Amino acid sequence: MRAQTPHGHVHAAPFLDVDTLIGDRDIEIVICCGSGGVGKTTTSAALAVRAAEAGRRVVVLTIDPARRLAQSLGLGELDNTPRPVVGIDTTHGGSLDAMMLDMKRTFDEVVLTHSTPEKAEQILANPFYEALSSSFSGTQEYMAMERLGQLHAQAEADARAGRRGWDLIVVDTPPARSALDFLDAPEHLSSLLDGRFIRLLLAPTRGPLRLMGVGFTLVSSAMNKVLGSQIIADVQTFVRACEAIFGGFRQRAEETFARLSSSHTVFLVVATAQRDALREASYFVDRLTEEGMPLGGLVVNRVHDSTLDVSAQRAAALAEDLEGTQQLEAEALRRHADLMRVAEAESALLDRFATARPEVAQTKVPALPSDVTALDDLRQVGVLLAEKDD
Ligand SMILES: Nc1ncnc2c1ncn2[C@@H]1O[C@H](COP(=O)(O)OP(=O)(O)O)[C@@H](O)[C@H]1O
Ligand SMILES: [Mg+2]
Repeated sequence: MRAQTPHGHVHAAPFLDVDTLIGDRDIEIVICCGSGGVGKTTTSAALAVRAAEAGRRVVVLTIDPARRLAQSLGLGELDNTPRPVVGIDTTHGGSLDAMMLDMKRTFDEVVLTHSTPEKAEQILANPFYEALSSSFSGTQEYMAMERLGQLHAQAEADARAGRRGWDLIVVDTPPARSALDFLDAPEHLSSLLDGRFIRLLLAPTRGPLRLMGVGFTLVSSAMNKVLGSQIIADVQTFVRACEAIFGGFRQRAEETFARLSSSHTVFLVVATAQRDALREASYFVDRLTEEGMPLGGLVVNRVHDSTLDVSAQRAAALAEDLEGTQQLEAEALRRHADLMRVAEAESALLDRFATARPEVAQTKVPALPSDVTALDDLRQVGVLLAEKDD
């Protein structure tokens, strides 16, 4: 890709070489992030297949695969358990397991693992628990982290015991409303754990409501909507029952966060060549950099282009010339002009991105004619991801 610098020099964005990345045995975790609908799940699955067929022992943690993609990966239902993917070429010694994150079940497992059976029962039966585990802002992001921590611990235990476990975890991220959610999950959780939120909930039994101000009103009405009456008593029981667990949550969130900032992790930011997606991508790149998280580069997905080197303007002019005499040719040229208009607009946006952030490596994946659902589609996306575009 070419980009005009402020000094008039033309430079190319560095190439994001995903084969080098997945071939690097020091890389243990790859996280695909970006705004909704850009291709995070597709990219995660394609990278996982490619890495496995190149010899890595991979587990891919997907969040929201479309049904047909899930079927191709052998994921019939949400069950939170990694399952071997059938049809992977294992001749290079690799393997692929896939799982779909079930947020509620991950939450339940954490409670069950870290408390006594009686306490666990008390917590799981509490209506506030239901609300927290399904609707608290950042919960899905946090649960993805929690599950990632579990998978990584399992991989390490296997390695210590001399078993051939996973050596690469590929992580898809939730369809977040904004790019912020994923990175902010530990913080959201910390503020919950640090008790501000909990104090707000407990406060009415202790002091006059008006002292609580706006914060309480918001929380209270949100909670009332979810839970109806009876809420305060339930919350108090709940909080008392899970105090011990909360401490563990925080510690593990911190451990996972530390692991994510290590040299064994790489973040890939996925975007399409559209204004909003690239704006989110810039924001994401900046946040990752600020947080000291290792950025691999940018995957530009669903890029439009043509092998026919005729500009939109020229194709439109030619179409006009042929209008009336050669109708079919005119129509073909008009369609080419439409495609090239899209391609040229995308290219301009990508040039601007590369100029603003010249250090960010990029790879492009063309828009395919149909959705990416079968294993072979994922292989094709893998090839396109790895290919250096000229
Ligand atoms: N390069 C591509 N060409 C064509 N369709 C694509 C491509 N990448 C993704 N898709 C399709 O776009 C949709 C959204 O992709 P997905 O990976 O689910 O996005 P996200 O996980 O970021 O929300 C899916 O239907 C997928 O099959
Ligand atoms: Mg997705």
